[in-house]
Amino acid sequence: MSTVTLAPLKILTVPDPVLRTRARPVAAEHEATLRALVPRMFAAMYAAPGIGLAAPQVGVGLRVAVVDLMAEDKPDPIVLINPEILATSEDRETREEGCLSLPGQYADVTRPARVRIRFHDQQGARRELSAEGLLAACLQHEIDHLDGVLFVDHLSTLKRNMLLRRLAKELRQKHSDRPGR
Ligand code: NI
Repeated sequence: MSTVTLAPLKILTVPDPVLRTRARPVAAEHEATLRALVPRMFAAMYAAPGIGLAAPQVGVGLRVAVVDLMAEDKPDPIVLINPEILATSEDRETREEGCLSLPGQYADVTRPARVRIRFHDQQGARRELSAEGLLAACLQHEIDHLDGVLFVDHLSTLKRNMLLRRLAKELRQKHSDRPGR
């Protein structure tokens, strides 16, 4: 066990180009990187707080994401390595989504209501998971991140531009805030 204290991971925000870059598949050579990265991703996600975080959001272009819905306030961490969508339902569901890379911005997003995915867990075991409801939306949202896709891409151009303009304005205001003013 390492006792080294590492600086918390910084979560990138739009318009950082890493968020728009397709992540590379995880290979055996990335094992040590993952061992160090995954616990730090969980720490950053829980601290935010959020229910999902993909590696590109912390500047790492690998196909890794972490998810924890914390249903009934109990931790239920899922590590997704090289996740792929195997099947999606015809029926769709609309729910409000947000993203740690677009802080404070929320919009209704329509996606397939159910999804079946395949991935590797951190031990390298191949897993499949069927999900519905919030988990289905969260898995699709995180897998989108690995392809450089953000939830705003599922909105109309008008709604997307309004949301991105509002975010840019809020981030500008935040950066110009000075203590004691
Ligand atoms: Ni996100």
